[in-house]
Amino acid sequence: MSSFLLVTDLDNTLVGDDQAMLQLNQQLSQHRQQYGSKIVYSTGRSPVRYQQLATAKSLLEPDILIAAVGTEIYAKGSDLPDPNWAAILSQGWDREQIIAMTAHLADLTPQADTEQRPFKVSYFLSPTAAVEVIPRLETLLAEQGLEVQLIYSGSLDLDILPSRANKGMAMAFVRQDLGIDPTQTVACGDSGNDIALFANRPERGIIVGNAMSELLEWHHTNPNSERYLAKAHCAGGILEGLNHFGFL
Ligand code: GLC
Ligand code: MG
Repeated sequence: MSSFLLVTDLDNTLVGDDQAMLQLNQQLSQHRQQYGSKIVYSTGRSPVRYQQLATAKSLLEPDILIAAVGTEIYAKGSDLPDPNWAAILSQGWDREQIIAMTAHLADLTPQADTEQRPFKVSYFLSPTAAVEVIPRLETLLAEQGLEVQLIYSGSLDLDILPSRANKGMAMAFVRQDLGIDPTQTVACGDSGNDIALFANRPERGIIVGNAMSELLEWHHTNPNSERYLAKAHCAGGILEGLNHFGFL
């Protein structure tokens, strides 16, 4: 056994089956203690909403928290997001202009204030409207020279992020900072904003058995032998995948 880096989404990936999570957490904390493995959470939630979940579900304390869809990176025990990551994301990012261009669009309903973050503007958008609205928005924002990316998750959430930030790019930043090889790194997810954890990435991947169709469809059209689709749901799927890759 050797140390590895686990990067996992929370809602419906690590969290969702309390029994399975208890079992996985026992193995993970033992592995962390014995081999120095690292646990990184990567969630769409803001820090406030992360804290609510962490308390409600007694989550293990992660070595690093990546919040707000890859746009904020917090070291253990720190309330301040990594300033180097923020400096990278601020290039070409104009939050006010994005809001000015999108806030009036009828199909977009703003998410709660807590989820509007320095490098993330978030709306609710119905799946029927999304088909037409997302490409139109992409063109509109690009025409203004705004370097953004649109990420649609759970057939509901639309996140507008800097083009340099998503869950995959944040994982790469953290992994390189820790000096861990991609072959010793595994990312886990279940929905649209997790595609960035798997797309054109050298790390290993686990898709939990309960993944949403948006991720499953992408997985099937972009096959990769280093990505494992688990049968078990949530933490049970992570455990299954970690065994598949020989990490546990
Ligand atoms: C979380 C966040 C929300 C975001 C969604 C998808 O639910 O709270 O703001 O849109 O993840 O990334
Ligand atoms: Mg999720």
